Amino acid sequence: MEHLFIGKNPNKPTLLLLHGTGGNERDMLPLAEVIDSEASVLSVRGNILENGMPRFFKRLAEGVFDEKDLIFRTKELNEFLNEAAEQHQFDRHNLIAVGYSNGANIAASLLFQIENSLKAAILHHPMVPRRDIELPNLAEKQIFIGAGVNDPICSPEESKELQALFEKANANVTIHWEKMGHQLTMQEVQAAAEWYHKQNFS
Ligand code: MLT
Repeated sequence: MEHLFIGKNPNKPTLLLLHGTGGNERDMLPLAEVIDSEASVLSVRGNILENGMPRFFKRLAEGVFDEKDLIFRTKELNEFLNEAAEQHQFDRHNLIAVGYSNGANIAASLLFQIENSLKAAILHHPMVPRRDIELPNLAEKQIFIGAGVNDPICSPEESKELQALFEKANANVTIHWEKMGHQLTMQEVQAAAEWYHKQNFS
């Protein structure tokens, strides 16, 4: 997959950056600086093009996912992460996703579908990726959800549903609310950074 890798302190986690629809591997780089400027960065571009806009999986309509493609692309991304860890020599078990919108949805899908695919995740405005599966055990997984009380794409009910599904699988979830819509604000990124530093990831 198209990607950027920026190697930094090998004793820190690697931040896996996953952009929103229409973004690319450069979009989220400023977030990594705010969250942990010493952490290595793997930033990936989604393999799907929707009217020229990169995405991580196909959709049938806004908010309606092509589930077959989502399952396939989730596996494809996980395999890419395994290869990238070999190629760039980072610890595959110390990967923390930072995703926004479509990127948060594929990160949530990794957590739903593949055991130990991520160590932790910062999900900005994620949706429930699938409703038909039993999640793997997410004990010791730390998850931050950034949500908007007026988000028209991901309703507050859906944010709470996602939190409940993760918690049912034993994850440790923090949900942060902004009085905003689907957009990602600096205030939300800073809340994610504060949360990250409280976890003492190493
Ligand atoms: C998605 O398709 O992943 C969600 O609708 C969010 C978006 O990318 O607009």
